Amino acid sequence: MIFRYKFGDPTETGAVVDFEKVQECTSGKPQYFTLESNCLSFKRTLPQGVAVYGLGESTRGINKRGWHYDSFCSDDPIHTEDKQSLYGAHNFIVIDEEKPFGVFVDIPGKVSFDICAESYDTLEITAEDGNFYFYEITGESIRDIVRQFRKMIGKSYTPPLWAFGYQQCRWSYPDEASVRAVAKGYKDAEIPIDSIYLDIDYMERFKDFTVDGEKFPDLAALAAELKEEGIHLVPIIDAGVKIEDGYDVYEDGVEKGYFCKDENGENYVTAVWPGKTLFPDFLNSEARHWFGMKYKRLTDMGIDGFWNDMNEPAIFYSEKGLDRAWEYVENQKGKPLDVNNFFDLRDAFVKLSNSTEDYKAMYHDMDGKKVRHYDVHNLYGYNMTKSAAEALDEIRPNKRTLLFSRASYIGMHRFGGIWMGDNQSWWSHILLNLKMLPSLNMCGFLYTGADLGGFGGNCTRDLLMRWLALGIFSPLMRNHAALGTRAQECYNFEKPEEFREIIKLRYRLIPYLYSEFNKANDSYDMMFRPLAFDYHEDKIACSVEDQLMLGDEAMIAPVYEQNAIGRNVYLPEDMLLVMFDTAESFTLTRLEKGHHFIEVPLNQVPIFVKKNRLLPLCRPSENTEKLSLDKIELFGWVDGRAEYELYTDDGISKQNKGERIIKFTAENGRVYSDCDDTELSDGGVCFD
Ligand code: GLC
Repeated sequence: MIFRYKFGDPTETGAVVDFEKVQECTSGKPQYFTLESNCLSFKRTLPQGVAVYGLGESTRGINKRGWHYDSFCSDDPIHTEDKQSLYGAHNFIVIDEEKPFGVFVDIPGKVSFDICAESYDTLEITAEDGNFYFYEITGESIRDIVRQFRKMIGKSYTPPLWAFGYQQCRWSYPDEASVRAVAKGYKDAEIPIDSIYLDIDYMERFKDFTVDGEKFPDLAALAAELKEEGIHLVPIIDAGVKIEDGYDVYEDGVEKGYFCKDENGENYVTAVWPGKTLFPDFLNSEARHWFGMKYKRLTDMGIDGFWNDMNEPAIFYSEKGLDRAWEYVENQKGKPLDVNNFFDLRDAFVKLSNSTEDYKAMYHDMDGKKVRHYDVHNLYGYNMTKSAAEALDEIRPNKRTLLFSRASYIGMHRFGGIWMGDNQSWWSHILLNLKMLPSLNMCGFLYTGADLGGFGGNCTRDLLMRWLALGIFSPLMRNHAALGTRAQECYNFEKPEEFREIIKLRYRLIPYLYSEFNKANDSYDMMFRPLAFDYHEDKIACSVEDQLMLGDEAMIAPVYEQNAIGRNVYLPEDMLLVMFDTAESFTLTRLEKGHHFIEVPLNQVPIFVKKNRLLPLCRPSENTEKLSLDKIELFGWVDGRAEYELYTDDGISKQNKGERIIKFTAENGRVYSDCDDTELSDGGVCFD
């Protein structure tokens, strides 16, 4: 059951699309909370041990209990545990009481979730303004509540199959030669790859939808040449449009009045990478369509994937903010500096970026209604991606385009995926990556992944190896690194053959991952789940924060500590441990329910398969184009009978053309399938 309470006059965010099960409650009194008189704060006492799940992209644990989170899309590259906001705003939680229930706060502005931080047993949800919808969702289990919620917010974005291949990014590959060198590096090392990214330097002076003709004299030819090798080029698009005379996107947008304004209707001037910029008013439907159609300039060059960035929006400074800072500094000149005004002086510039003052001074024209940016802040990146997705539907009807964003809000999951933003080359960020996967799945974001190897800082070989051993399971598998950091492409480290094996294993897994992705999407389920969701009666399983269930077949437990020779793993039931030492050689160990220490050498990858389940792996290939289902090797521990239904389709058309289920069965010491074209091997099956 889903109950909806309306407070004030909410802005429609578009997060909810299926109202079939939604019951409007006019009482204004939620069932599970006491409401403060201001109608902004909802409180509930949570007995010790009650876990809270959700909040999508956020810091800390899978169980969110014990911290204060602010839902406010923020450009913050330092994801330490004291942070309260990251790039996305995902206001959905499930409270695991005896009768679990879910809460979704549909508000375009800020809302905070104090989950037993201020007071050890109190959950307090506080909206900053009084206009929002508050949903309460009841169900039989956590998974059931999530399913109902997901159905209500609609199906998730599905990328093309090639977007499940390995992807290499860097800020930046600044010219044609460096892009070719990356392709060659991977080819020479025989490491599979499906895409190479173009960060901001491909543009002419960082202007969206332009290409620097000196560094990339013929982008269309380059895209075609790489596609011959099965590699897609994926350029970045930033939210800010450079102010420059003669730049048509800027001039046309100004003429049509499509940029965000100040209170008096003047264009609100900010600065990001290109220097002075204007922000397209993505909350205006005409501006959205206008901007989205510009992607055609790149699709006309053969581009079929994009990443939308800086769309919280990130602001380095605004013209008005900078004037104020200079004025302050001028006033301080010559004055003695003490502890207070020294820091104020320093902050005059430091605090120019992403300032609340700017968000409060900028306005949208929401199809006739003037709305302050701050009040609808969390919808900005969402609508940038919606702008692209809707236009790409027109530009490339029937074809899926790779599309993902940095900022997001629930609802955007229907239009694109997200990456987890600017993480660091820290061991703790492998674990943060793992923890965000199920929380994001709860909120509809299935196509997601972190910058593997870490974005900021220098990555070491062992960090990248261990991180890839988690990354091979996430739908978006992209290695990305920041300007000025050590080269992070796999072939740049010693023994590239060990990276090759890990990435080849990813390709072996793609049919299964693609199948689980689509099944999760079709049934509004999660591809990655905390153990607590599947083994709810098992207290130990409920406290596990560093392992995940993948589909209904597997469990993953990556090593995330430097110099570790292995790790402790908790098995909530009997499982087969498949330890891959290369993509094609492995050992099989039957393990009983309980605690185990598993040795995992640096180049090895463990996968745990549940008893009487089957995991199908195809042959490795150099890219997804060459992936074939002709030969499948099954893995599992079969005591009786096990089956797996593999979902397949043509991997590119919107209607999932060629949809087909292939069924694999293992019983009585033999394996078979209902598809004559697939040759099966039972090398990975142990029969009891
Ligand atoms: C932002 C993005 C990052 C990108 C950089 C330069 O920090 O999050 O991925 O590389 O901008 O465009």
